[in-house]
Amino acid sequence: MLDLKKLIDGMTVEEKIGQLAQFNANVFSGSDADITGPLVKNGLTGDDLYRIGSLLNFKDSKEMNELQKRHLEGDRNKIPMVFMMDVIHGYRTIFPIPLALGGSFDTELVEECTRMSAVEASSAGVQVTFTPMVDYVRDARWGRVMETCGEEPILNGIMGAAQVKAFHGEDMSKFGGLATCVKHYAAYGGAEAGRDYNQVELSEHILREFYLPAYKACIDAGVDMLMPSFNVLNGVPAVANSWLMKKVLREEWGFEGVVISDYDAVGELITHGIAADKKEAAKYAFKNGCDIEMCSNGYIKHLKEMIEEGIFTEEQLDAVVLKILELKKRLGLFEDPYKGASPETEEKTCLTAENRALVRKAANECAVLLKNDGVLPFSKEHKKIALIGPFADNHNIIGFWSCCGKNEESVTVKQGVQSKLPDVEIKVVKGCSDKWNEIDKSRFDEAVKAAREADIVILCLGEPQNYSGEGNCRTDLDLPGVQNELAEKVIGANSNTAVLLFTGRPLAISKLDSIAPAILNMWFPGTEGGNAAADLLFGDANPSGKITMTFPKSVGQCPIYYNHTNTGRPISKQRDEMHNPYASNYIDCGNLPLYSFGHGLSYSNFVYEGMTLSKKEMNIDGEIKVTVTVYNDSDIAGKETVQLYMRDLVASTARPVQQLIAFEKITLGPKERKTVEFAVTEPMLRFWNSENEFVSEKGEFTLSVGYADNMYYTERFSLK
Ligand code: BGC
Repeated sequence: MLDLKKLIDGMTVEEKIGQLAQFNANVFSGSDADITGPLVKNGLTGDDLYRIGSLLNFKDSKEMNELQKRHLEGDRNKIPMVFMMDVIHGYRTIFPIPLALGGSFDTELVEECTRMSAVEASSAGVQVTFTPMVDYVRDARWGRVMETCGEEPILNGIMGAAQVKAFHGEDMSKFGGLATCVKHYAAYGGAEAGRDYNQVELSEHILREFYLPAYKACIDAGVDMLMPSFNVLNGVPAVANSWLMKKVLREEWGFEGVVISDYDAVGELITHGIAADKKEAAKYAFKNGCDIEMCSNGYIKHLKEMIEEGIFTEEQLDAVVLKILELKKRLGLFEDPYKGASPETEEKTCLTAENRALVRKAANECAVLLKNDGVLPFSKEHKKIALIGPFADNHNIIGFWSCCGKNEESVTVKQGVQSKLPDVEIKVVKGCSDKWNEIDKSRFDEAVKAAREADIVILCLGEPQNYSGEGNCRTDLDLPGVQNELAEKVIGANSNTAVLLFTGRPLAISKLDSIAPAILNMWFPGTEGGNAAADLLFGDANPSGKITMTFPKSVGQCPIYYNHTNTGRPISKQRDEMHNPYASNYIDCGNLPLYSFGHGLSYSNFVYEGMTLSKKEMNIDGEIKVTVTVYNDSDIAGKETVQLYMRDLVASTARPVQQLIAFEKITLGPKERKTVEFAVTEPMLRFWNSENEFVSEKGEFTLSVGYADNMYYTERFSLK
């Protein structure tokens, strides 16, 4: 039996501190004697090398195996390194970006995709993933909205918890089992003006109700690690923020897992103007419970000195080392430091036909039909198809954070349509440049000609994949370049046009919406994007995704989200497009968004036939059963997400106009009817009050079924 405490007793202070250090795998490039490049840049010496506890950003199983072997030969304690990576939406076979996946409202699908990525990643030597990312978001300008499930706190938590469970698998210590790290704690998504790394100022009740619950849900699901965010939260950067890191995380929530800083976030305490130097930065981070320092060297350089000075004790260090070694033990690394990773396993495991089939299904489930005037689905009988636009034959559709996925391994729209309809004549015209800001309209004529000569047009537009993701924020949320003008010309030439949209965030596409007969939002769909697009366009799959982040009409409406408060001067939906003096609105734009949270059409025609409440009064320990009946009034089988919302009509703090409290995705055959039942209980009605506690207050509530600002039925009840 491995005795970790005994192992720690035999370690030197330097060796212990090494366990708290994480660097990029490239610190190992070159021989020990050749102390150049990355080593020098990271302020490391050759002696530090064999003590490093973990690595990130290595290439594959071959590199991982070599590094682990070399490390174990050099480390007298024989403590394996642990290898970490960002496996966000697939390892090699890429499924849709998280913002899309959340909109499937399908936890089983999320678990299936996550399991697949865990097994692929494990074959390549990944042991810990920096997932789930559950930052709550309201501002589409922020590039990292693509990594989240959007503006719904409950949904974010449910999807995060599903990922934790699926990454672990049945036995985390075996091949295919990965440890997880929830991030970025906290409120990174609240960056002011949607600009990455910007400061966040949020009241406690907004934090508690919207931003914090998803991290907590992941902790309750057994997440192993947690990453504090880069941002300043209410004046103090997360990694040094004692309210966040000690009071809430450790004391209130009882989190006992390993905390790892974000990339150089400890070093950045100096840039924030919080610490005078590396030593002080390391002091703040360690004091506030940051266990591993990612890619900065404050601990390696200064922790020993701080122990000698009595700022920290060696017992404190031992407790952190124990936590890290326990994680390694739970991962099974002391038995098998390679966990079955090898080039042969990788070859057998990654990008298989089965995995491709799964991500194709996922891309089908996540696409959102934003608009359809009846052109979709297209018949397969058409003889001539024009594929127009910068995404018509473009492999760059897998999205940011695609880990080891390769763009060139993806299926383009052209390839997808061609393989579905091998005998049809397909004309591909890019129409405009994919050097996105180039104002070149010289290819418009060719596009118009192709559109005119075709029976149907598939117009493939969007924003490039490097316009979203870390550091990629925008102030303009419309289609970049001359795509709107291209769309106008093409649709003018052939109204039998459907737009396929590729994007990593909600876009403000009012112009496009006003002219396009149909818009099918593919998000960034992943490796099988082109095949999924063809399935959906030609009716082999029926769209069922919903948007989980509001699409604004104009970027000036941002931040815009469905769960806002009413204000003292709201305007009615009917008066939205007018300017209402002395009301809460704009002179030049309505308050309603272009597409609301929860919106997403289908080829089926779902009719909500009614909603009933089992009673109209509920005791604090009681329950109300809500039944909703949905009928598929069409000949096409489809899926619908039934969404239940709540509103607290009178409370001691102003409550949102709607809050999602439950959902269920159902499948309905042609002309089929189903009844969904939800149980509403008191904890679902709680909020953070001015006394700083989660409470419910007696009084009147409404329950509604529908989505955001489009409710089909609303009923009242009271909490006694
Ligand atoms: C990101 C994290 C990521 C880390 C390691 C940082 O820049 O903010 O989300 O886990 O890099 O790749």
